[in-house]
Amino acid sequence: MHSTSCALLLLLFLAVIVSAADLYKALELSRHASEQDIRKAYKRLSRKYHPDKNTDAGAEAKFVEIAHAYEVLSDTTKRQIYDRHGEEGLRAHEGGQQQHANPFDMFSTFFGGGFGGQQQTRRGPTVMMDFEISLADMYTGSSTDFSLKKHVLCDHCRGSGAASDGDIHPCRGCGGSGVKISKQQIFPGMFAQTQATCNDCGGRGTVVVKKCPHCGGQKVVEHIQHYTLDIDPGMSEGHEVIFDGEGDESPDWEPGDVILRVRSRKEEGGWRRKESTLYWRETIGIDEALLGFKRNISHLDEHIVAIDRKGVTQPGYVQMIEGEGMPVFGQSGNGNLYIEYNVVLPSELNSEMRRKLEEVFYGSGDHQRDEL
Ligand SMILES: *[C@@H]1O[C@H](CO)[C@@H](O)[C@H](O)[C@H]1NC(C)=O
Ligand SMILES: [Zn+2]
Ligand SMILES: [Zn+2]
Repeated sequence: MHSTSCALLLLLFLAVIVSAADLYKALELSRHASEQDIRKAYKRLSRKYHPDKNTDAGAEAKFVEIAHAYEVLSDTTKRQIYDRHGEEGLRAHEGGQQQHANPFDMFSTFFGGGFGGQQQTRRGPTVMMDFEISLADMYTGSSTDFSLKKHVLCDHCRGSGAASDGDIHPCRGCGGSGVKISKQQIFPGMFAQTQATCNDCGGRGTVVVKKCPHCGGQKVVEHIQHYTLDIDPGMSEGHEVIFDGEGDESPDWEPGDVILRVRSRKEEGGWRRKESTLYWRETIGIDEALLGFKRNISHLDEHIVAIDRKGVTQPGYVQMIEGEGMPVFGQSGNGNLYIEYNVVLPSELNSEMRRKLEEVFYGSGDHQRDEL
């Protein structure tokens, strides 16, 4: 109650400020925005700046500004006047006294009861999808574009399914109430009343006599929507990125969310990940295993990890390199990298090599002579 009356007071002061601002800018839209864009922008921004949620200075003023912009731009007549003659034109249209709707009432109506009372608005289904990206993209962070096929409200009929507003008539079967009441005589003089959803209009109370040519009366059309998925460095496997209200649209519900569950793609060999730890398998020759070696390993972002091992490396030996693992999600620093060494032996020895090795392992020629 208190916040509403405050807002009304505020409105009187704000009327002047609001007038000066560009209504499209208030909703972060261009002048070519569709009705759907306008609805979406209002939905997104009004939630962001609602004073119940946003306590920043200026959030309330912004909330009021957004409500006013939506009030004008969502009304075809008012929008046309505004486009041609600006706020001056609107004031003239309304007889010099511009009426502002209460932005809080508007918000409640739009969301079916504000933040608390969402149960009044039916929500469409939530879409959950697995989304695979390369481990390299998860290491560095990235932006990936993708598209989804979904249903959106038909632009032409705005979800009514009718060719024009005049083609929506009250249902004759139920008189517009959406239910049919039938009386049944069970005894002479005694009636039972039954109520059933009207089957002529499906309970809507209206029927469409001429279908919308654009959607064929379906109210929605298929649409390919493009999105960008932002991956933060070190994002955990199975992390859910929510695209708020991007599910199928329908006049019967508020669209549900699209949720992407992000995972790294399984790649043959190479890098493996467990949380912030990385694993790499490096293959070395028997000479390197015995004598030591230098190697450059190219990391996921192609920076070089220089390895310098002196002395003997056992097959299967695991070396830990601190700070060369995945970035720790939401924090600074990296996990560790574990390198496992795989030693390969030559498939054959020529006689020269064999002689030399025998010399190394068994000393001067005696052994060789025994064998011959
Ligand atoms: C590793 O890379 C550096 C340059 O980044 C180069 O100077 C060095 O020779 C390389 N070492 C090996 C063993 O390839
Ligand atoms: Zn009906
Ligand atoms: Zn249509």
